[in-house]
Amino acid sequence: MSQYRAIRGMVDILPDDTPLWQMLEQTASDVLGAHGYQEIRTPIVESTDLFARSIGEVTDIVEKEMYSFPDRNDESLSLRPEGTASTVRAMVQHNLIQSPQRVWYRGPMFRYERPQKGRQRQFHQLGVEAFGIATPDLDAELLLMCRQWWKRLGIDDVLTLELNTIGSGEARQRYKAALTDYLRGHFDALDDDSQRRLDTNPLRILDTKSESTQAVLKGAPSMSTFLDDESRAHHDRLCELLSLAGLSFVPNPNLVRGLDYYNKTVFEWTTDKLGAQATVCGGGRYDAMVSQFGGRDTAGCGFAAGLERLILLLQALDVEASADPDLYIISSDENALGKAMLEADRIRSEFPTLNVVQHLGGGSFKSQFKRADKSGAAWAMVFGEEEVAQGTVTLKPLRSRDEQMTLDREGLNKFLAQLEALAQDVEE
Ligand code: HAM
Repeated sequence: MSQYRAIRGMVDILPDDTPLWQMLEQTASDVLGAHGYQEIRTPIVESTDLFARSIGEVTDIVEKEMYSFPDRNDESLSLRPEGTASTVRAMVQHNLIQSPQRVWYRGPMFRYERPQKGRQRQFHQLGVEAFGIATPDLDAELLLMCRQWWKRLGIDDVLTLELNTIGSGEARQRYKAALTDYLRGHFDALDDDSQRRLDTNPLRILDTKSESTQAVLKGAPSMSTFLDDESRAHHDRLCELLSLAGLSFVPNPNLVRGLDYYNKTVFEWTTDKLGAQATVCGGGRYDAMVSQFGGRDTAGCGFAAGLERLILLLQALDVEASADPDLYIISSDENALGKAMLEADRIRSEFPTLNVVQHLGGGSFKSQFKRADKSGAAWAMVFGEEEVAQGTVTLKPLRSRDEQMTLDREGLNKFLAQLEALAQDVEE
């Protein structure tokens, strides 16, 4: 019989990889918690219209990447392609935007893209959204928070912050018109995709990868000459705050992002260590979305990081995390197994940070030791006939040159306390 396989572009995260994922998510939750952000969890399915209206009808995501389907009641639903729209929907629905709010989320997102390294059809984002603060100090805080996370992960040296401002909606309309006029005059030199976008989403042409189109863009009008005064002042103050904090960035006037809801600040964190899928995190301001969703006029700003890409980056830098057991308990016979099980239970209550695996399913001492070794455990804890008779246990090191020792209850407790302290030191 043929075996089932995961759907193309949807990937299993296997037990060997989860310690790195847990480390990645734990550092984020620590950093975000330290900045007063609280977690929000929203459904994976929303009405298709929610995404179409906020992300934009003529974006790649809405035009060709959404997993949309009619439910049994013929309502069009979609698997979420991102988290901002759902978060705004939830905040408005539950009337939470009366005062400033800072929230974060993590979870799977779905986009029907061509799978490749760093690009999947089900992928995971960890995102942050803040509401009710229109001033650039918020944009600065979000970027500093990213930097804190990168530092804890040890990847701050390999990430570059690219920053731009795309101004107000009106400024963008004026710029769009000027850009379209200019590009129409060079229509034949544009690549196919850009020719198509000229009528639908001309700003997206700015971040084309086509060399011929890039050459045409060299002579194009620049967004900065069309910026409204308020957006310019906002951007200048943000740059000032970032330099005050020693956070350097690369201005990228062509950065427009693939979602239509942004205004003023947009940014991306990129790396040269991952090949084509170089952006690990992106975000910006979306001051119009809350009112678009029926809430009262409230500023919004946030970002989302792609967790698969961060994992690839950690792996490229040989960062490791392990969930190997501290102790692997083996026993000589049924009687010893019963004693061992009670002792394992006691140890887990009294030393809750230790990772204690008990050998189950029987087998000779030799085969149990083999399993202990394979588990990656630091120590084998042995309950043999003699140990049971004496009320002791034998501890045998599996990965170090420490001495083997036989300990009574008091000695064992001392040993376990040291082991716990050691494990905490390593974590810190
Ligand atoms: P986005 O740029 O579409 O922004 O996605 C954010 C990040 O998700 C990307 O930088 C990338 O790392 C990751 N990502 C996107 N698509 C894929 C994929 N197919 N496979 C793997 N990783 C992917 C947003 O989604 C906005 N909601 C961010 C935001 C939050 N803006 C304001 N608040």
